[in-house]
Amino acid sequence: MEKRLREIEEEALAAVQNAAKEELEELKIRFLGRKGELTTILKGLGSLPAEQRPVIGKLANMVKKRVEKAISERLQALASGSGPMAIQGFDPTLPGRAGFPGHLHPITKVMNQVCAIFERMGFSVAQGPEIELDFYNFEALNIPADHPARDMQDTFYIDSKVLLRTHTSPIQIRTMEKISPPLRIIAPGKVYRCDSDVTHTPMFHQVEGLMVDQGIAFADLKGILTHFAQEIFDPKTKVRFRPSFFPFTEPSAEIDIQCVICRGEGCRVCSQTGWLEVLGAGLVHPAVFRHVGIDTEKYSGFAFGLGIERIAMLKYGINDIRLFYDNDMRFLSQF
Ligand code: FA5
Repeated sequence: MEKRLREIEEEALAAVQNAAKEELEELKIRFLGRKGELTTILKGLGSLPAEQRPVIGKLANMVKKRVEKAISERLQALASGSGPMAIQGFDPTLPGRAGFPGHLHPITKVMNQVCAIFERMGFSVAQGPEIELDFYNFEALNIPADHPARDMQDTFYIDSKVLLRTHTSPIQIRTMEKISPPLRIIAPGKVYRCDSDVTHTPMFHQVEGLMVDQGIAFADLKGILTHFAQEIFDPKTKVRFRPSFFPFTEPSAEIDIQCVICRGEGCRVCSQTGWLEVLGAGLVHPAVFRHVGIDTEKYSGFAFGLGIERIAMLKYGINDIRLFYDNDMRFLSQF
């Protein structure tokens, strides 16, 4: 009897597993109905020897419950699907999962804001190639071969004459070759250097600025850059001009912005100085003007190159520049 009960259970569960809705009704009658074998066994318990009654009774009830449960689960699964598409566990009536809305990368956002500020001051946008000739990246900027200033930027060379541009300054030359003064341009783009730590990445973004006209002085550069810093951060932003050296500007300066992460107290990002260097600048060197045939008696100009990642770090309070390029969605989705 026990063996028969197990067979009934096995047979019923197998039949229910893939049954269609209409078949389930038949199976219910066949296995659980009044004339079904299981009911017959339960009804006939009284005629069994006394010691077998509790064992067979318990087993028969258990089989009955399992078959009932399988039928109701199958019915539920079929109800959550519909028509011929019904697949176990798939419910086409559930609302779909919301799509993940994309947005601009924080660096692109800051780049756009920086360009917009200069465009409002009358600068137009110029562009140049990322794979650059040594001539434009160094030579025409008054950095001849073997000049020690080449060591200031660790360069990725493609061959002896071609390289990944280390700064956006070659666009100064390319622009002045094509356009005569007066001119006022900015040149945004990617640049490359063999460099990596909390404030340096091997690929980063710069915006070059160049203004050439009659009577341009260092005061114009100072005014434009101070205005820029106060627009991109806030009107109270402190800016510091430090004497520096670039072969293509004279005099030259490095411009620092007070670290907004520690408010000038000193932290890991600003190397405990309270300031973060964001750009280099100066008055265009006469040797550069001579390379492009601009009359140094008549014209003067200023140029600057600012690091977009550094601006973004200050703007958003980021203490490691590499986070921008790790592509961690938990970080990127905050912007
Ligand atoms: C230059 O690249 C000069 N071409 C800037 C310039 C242009 C000076 C015109 C004068 C006239 P510098 O190497 O200091 O200068 O870089 C300029 C800015 O780029 C830095 O102030 C910094 O904000 C950013 N920067 C430099 N190296 C990295 C790096 N590896 N990762 C991220 N930002 C960097």
